[in-house]
Amino acid sequence: MCGIVGYIGHREAYPIVLKGLQRLEYRGYDSAGIALFDGSDLKMSKTKGKVADLKARLESEISTDGTVGLGHTRWATHGEPNDVNSHPHYSNSGELVIIHNGIIENYDALKKELKKRGYTFKSDTDTEVLVNLIEDVIKKENVKLGKAVQIALNQTVGAYAIAVFNKSKPDEIVVARLGSPLAIGVGEDEFFVASDASPFIEFTNNAIYLEDGEMAVVRRHKDVRVRKIKDDSLVDPYVQELQLNLEQIEKGGYEHFMLKEIHEQPNAISDTYRGRMLADKGIIRMAGVDDNMERIANAKRIIIVACGTSWHAGLVAEYIFEDIARIPVEVEYASEFRYRNPIISENDVVIAISQSGETADTMAAIKLAKEKGAFAFGVCNVVGSSISRETNAGAYTHAGPEIGVASTKAFTTQITVLTLIALKLGKFKGTISQSDFQFHLQEMERIPEKVKEALKSDNLIQEIAYKYRYAPNCLYLGRGYNFPVALEGALKLKEISYIHAEGYPAAEMKHGPIALIDEQMPVVVIATKKGHYEKVVSNIQEIKSRKGKIIAVVTKGDEEVRELADYVIEVPETIEALTPLLTTIPLQLLSYHIAVMLGKNVDQPRNLAKSVTVE
Ligand code: F6R
Repeated sequence: MCGIVGYIGHREAYPIVLKGLQRLEYRGYDSAGIALFDGSDLKMSKTKGKVADLKARLESEISTDGTVGLGHTRWATHGEPNDVNSHPHYSNSGELVIIHNGIIENYDALKKELKKRGYTFKSDTDTEVLVNLIEDVIKKENVKLGKAVQIALNQTVGAYAIAVFNKSKPDEIVVARLGSPLAIGVGEDEFFVASDASPFIEFTNNAIYLEDGEMAVVRRHKDVRVRKIKDDSLVDPYVQELQLNLEQIEKGGYEHFMLKEIHEQPNAISDTYRGRMLADKGIIRMAGVDDNMERIANAKRIIIVACGTSWHAGLVAEYIFEDIARIPVEVEYASEFRYRNPIISENDVVIAISQSGETADTMAAIKLAKEKGAFAFGVCNVVGSSISRETNAGAYTHAGPEIGVASTKAFTTQITVLTLIALKLGKFKGTISQSDFQFHLQEMERIPEKVKEALKSDNLIQEIAYKYRYAPNCLYLGRGYNFPVALEGALKLKEISYIHAEGYPAAEMKHGPIALIDEQMPVVVIATKKGHYEKVVSNIQEIKSRKGKIIAVVTKGDEEVRELADYVIEVPETIEALTPLLTTIPLQLLSYHIAVMLGKNVDQPRNLAKSVTVE
């Protein structure tokens, strides 16, 4: 939800900030803006639209000189996406400029107060209120920018990652975070600030990740002073060495990040189990589980909280945990869980699944569960993210940066991690035999090769995509482990092609959705050999007799479904619990190709953002 980037140092700020915004555009792309300071003038250009629109406008509007710059790419919360509501925002005097990711919830009350004191506002944003509040504190209290930011933030309620610059103190940028991420890149005589490290990865490997409730004064030629916003105490900043490299955040010859990330899945899955799983020895090592084994294995119940695609991974995990570890599981939308006074006890384990580790609802659900005494376990992709820090223990998915807004490799690596956990618990509890355990590990080791094989259906999938690209609706059906895959397939199609799609358990069809079926309706059915195969074949017959168009995802060599379906996409055979890792692949490719053929912006679908840090 919004990307922020800033630079202060000895280089020209503009190209750094612009490139940084392009890399952060996955976080929001309604509008964009940049402010630059050239030693005497503070200049700004901003516009509704993408960073590319900003570039065209800015270069004809202002000079790009200056060694201090702040940039913002927006996902609108307060105020529609238009030029005026775009960030950065000036204070009334024009001395201060701010960029902000988050929401100031009490902005209305603060705005009324400031209006009484003579302040005027051009935009509808909460951010313009904050920058004027900071200006008001400077005037009233006669304090420096850092202190003023601190006093102002202590009057706000909400979430933020901000960067503020004062043109009369041009050697510093003040940043702060609460609930939205903020990294400071520490270079030689230069500093970078950004929502994640991608804008500065080619300049420095050293970064400070601010903790919630911390602020920093970043001083050119000097240092970074970190403090607690609440009590002003100084914090010794931990300078972390980044593992990220430039290649990981570039498209590497693919047309879109989504396609690159789909094709990265064989490696992402093996990176996720490598070092944890020793298939020949029958061992799984996961520190987060090993260190808390009694607590997790003896849980009365596991509650999984997540949103979107991560919630679908949670549904797959429900099957695996109950099947293999025999622990009752509930899977909850984080946004519902947190607001319905859930019954949680100290014997419960709550697992939060989140690619970004920043999703506001998932974060709030974890906090609530911890307050009620539950043990919180995180499955996140982004190292050091808020959820990974808030949970008592966790296991990372090693998918690498996922930049396409539609989640792909995060989903399959989440399932990989959750499968390993279930197997570990099952072994500890004795609910899976040693030979079965070993067999699962050996089969998991074969999954990357099998994913590669599944990816080879790309040409056939393009043909199917072409045939059905104008379908207004699409149904996805699956049973058992593949019911969540049906939901995920439908979500992928909806979010990037804007075609209405629904996922259903195949057997539920006859309780309503079957009424939708006619000769226009494509129905994607997951019908792998393992898991209720005969029942799914019956469901396919029901669709066929109502003239629906059947696209079936089947186990390699299946002849029975081939007789019935209009198209058949084969995936290699595996054990039932691991089929989602293979059946997901053709559904990702199908939605990708349909969206490309419809001319949609696959990596940045409308109205969406990669990390949802608002409720
Ligand atoms: C769909 C998608 C979203 C996310 C959801 C949760 O492709 O990406 O549905 O899965 O916003 O995000 P995380 O996993 O970051 O908590």
